[in-house]
Amino acid sequence: MDMYSIEGGTPLRGTVKISGSKNACLPLMCAALLGNGPTVLENVPDLRDIRSMMTLLEHLNVRAILKNGRMVIDPATFDTDWVPYDMMRKMRASMYAFGPMISKRRRAAVSKPGGCNIGNRPIDLHLRGFRALGVRMVERQGYVHAHHAGLHGAEIDLLGDNGPSVGATCNVLMAASLASGRTVIRNAAREPEVQELANMLAAMGAKIDGIGSPTLSIDGVEELSGVKWRVQPDRIEAATFAVASAVTDGDVLLTDVDPTAMTATLWALREWGAEIDHQGEDALRVRRATDCPMRPLQLETGPYPGLATDTQPLFSALLAVTPGVSRVRDTIYRDRFMHALELNRMGAKTSQSGDFLSINGVGRLEGAAVMASDLRAGAALTVAALGAKGQTQLRRVYHIERGYERFEQKLAALGANIVRSSETEPEPGLDWNAVEEEVAPVSEVDTRG
Ligand code: UD1
Repeated sequence: MDMYSIEGGTPLRGTVKISGSKNACLPLMCAALLGNGPTVLENVPDLRDIRSMMTLLEHLNVRAILKNGRMVIDPATFDTDWVPYDMMRKMRASMYAFGPMISKRRRAAVSKPGGCNIGNRPIDLHLRGFRALGVRMVERQGYVHAHHAGLHGAEIDLLGDNGPSVGATCNVLMAASLASGRTVIRNAAREPEVQELANMLAAMGAKIDGIGSPTLSIDGVEELSGVKWRVQPDRIEAATFAVASAVTDGDVLLTDVDPTAMTATLWALREWGAEIDHQGEDALRVRRATDCPMRPLQLETGPYPGLATDTQPLFSALLAVTPGVSRVRDTIYRDRFMHALELNRMGAKTSQSGDFLSINGVGRLEGAAVMASDLRAGAALTVAALGAKGQTQLRRVYHIERGYERFEQKLAALGANIVRSSETEPEPGLDWNAVEEEVAPVSEVDTRG
């Protein structure tokens, strides 16, 4: 397995082009299955989850070709109606195949997703939506088997315990587009990625009202066509580079971004003490404000337009080095704090209590051997390492590759000292004399994690 060796302390400077959004692209790739002709997606990021979805399409006997950010998907040969456990296990977004399968093939068997490092991720809301549309389901041997004799419109409320569901809204949208009659989705997720799916379906011929609002109204149509569509910029990748600029006291220009989809992120960064200049409609310059100190924050994630849960680990890393006491609460994944235990290994002072993380900012972290437990935790640890003193070896970087295109190359182009290599365990380069003088009694060392 590969790791990153990161020598922290260099302010990031320069320009970085933000890639197309992974989370927007994944449902669009599945929506292409609904068309009567080929769909062409542009601005597609070349990263592991996109490749996994291409493998899933191949399993459905549909060829997807990706070249220079342009993907062609021709659904003419779509003839499979099940998703194996191995695919679901690797990527929960495999669930997006359910809607098109049930719609076009009238039956679907998907392996139930299992555990996930960021918390409990059930699929009950997806199933609630399909059931309302007339789908009958049984669970057997870890699979949900579903079939129907015709999808019909329905009133569906997709509010879950932690708010609306992005995945369930996308899945029901896809299935309802070809159902007979009107479907009304209440408490629909409003994330930009959901809006983009609805807009692409509309460009394929679907009749959808209320896009961007919590109530979506879909009048089913007989057929949808293929379409040419440009994928929106990745707002989470943009947030990652913005926070990296802030953590390293850098000066980074993000291009190809959509600032309107990042309002909460930009608000939080400004509250912290970042200066953010809009340069035209699709570029942002992010640096530390010279006239105000870094401020600790009380942050809470929430459904869009709230602060995205996927940015929470990044902000935790930023606040870990911000003097003062911060508090971060995640209302979407209430236990999503695995990164905090790794940040503590770098000298952060964080502790979890219920669904929030208390962070006592320490000014600067120190490089250490740490491990990415999931995609965004990996990004947050990279960002923390870039601002830390000394070297960090970050293991399990395959998690990061799931969602970031050419991550270490983009960081290196901004001046980051980051090298990828196979995992090794270097001897700790300790100055024993200094250690004997400075080391804290063992009882004070936080050994959790
Ligand atoms: C998507 C994103 C993910 C992001 C998440 C929340 C993709 C590929 N992934 O994931 O990066 O963190 O949105 O913005 O786009 N829930 C249920 N029952 C369900 C479905 C969800 O209770 O049937 C709960 C989840 O446990 C979670 C919350 O609802 O607490 C939101 O989940 P959801 O919006 O569905 O996330 P995903 O679509 O899986």
